[in-house]
Amino acid sequence: MTYSSAEFLFYPELQSTNNEMKRLCADRKLGEQSVVITANQTAGKGQGGNMWESEVNKNLTFSLLLRPEFLAPHLQFYISKIVSLGIADCMTALLKRDVSIKWPNDIYVGDKKLAGILIENSICGSKLDYCIVGIGLNVNQEVFVSDAPNPISIKQLLWVDTGLEALLEDLLARIEERYHQLEINRLDLINTDYFNVLYRKDGTHLFKDVKGVFEASIKSINELGLITLEDKEGLRREYAFKELRFM
Ligand code: BTN
Repeated sequence: MTYSSAEFLFYPELQSTNNEMKRLCADRKLGEQSVVITANQTAGKGQGGNMWESEVNKNLTFSLLLRPEFLAPHLQFYISKIVSLGIADCMTALLKRDVSIKWPNDIYVGDKKLAGILIENSICGSKLDYCIVGIGLNVNQEVFVSDAPNPISIKQLLWVDTGLEALLEDLLARIEERYHQLEINRLDLINTDYFNVLYRKDGTHLFKDVKGVFEASIKSINELGLITLEDKEGLRREYAFKELRFM
């Protein structure tokens, strides 16, 4: 699969590709599908104020610029869905095994995290001005030193190095394909595919909310990205990201 970005900006070193993309967007009108990428991200940002660990030259750490003018701001969770689906599509093809999406948008193999996504949106009036889609994919790194609970890389799964350039191209093409589905309003397909690859969608599992640990099953994820669980008493509870932990 091929992909052609509007602008492709490579930096030998950056603190954070998301921050650099934000800076560039404030400065000038960058075209949709522009990419900021670095070989050495020194202060990568993760979800919830965490750091994103990435060894120099071993992984993909980049930000992709989207300008989904067709999407109402309250539906911005669809960006999360299509990006995680694009990464899952790419990883499933490469690894030839099941890859799942841990709600809302972590890419998992088994119980381990292979990639993370940090999306930062800018809304202008009633329109999504731009979305900075930051992606960290663990590719050839073999040892993780941060306190991230359960990282895994492609190398730890395949035991061979993977070329970063070709992988990036395939990844971007897969995301573009899913983005196109969103553009032509294939929400049914996106929702079905997202739910089908959801981590722990089958059976009951342990979760934790402010009141403590409980057993429940995942029922649905709505358009706003809220998850609905059903506990053993048949009671349904709805959560936003950060209100719920998978145990
Ligand atoms: C997560 O915590 O799961 C999200 C991790 C996102 C990391 C990527 S790496 C490229 C981009 N730039 C950043 O500073 N963060 C994202």
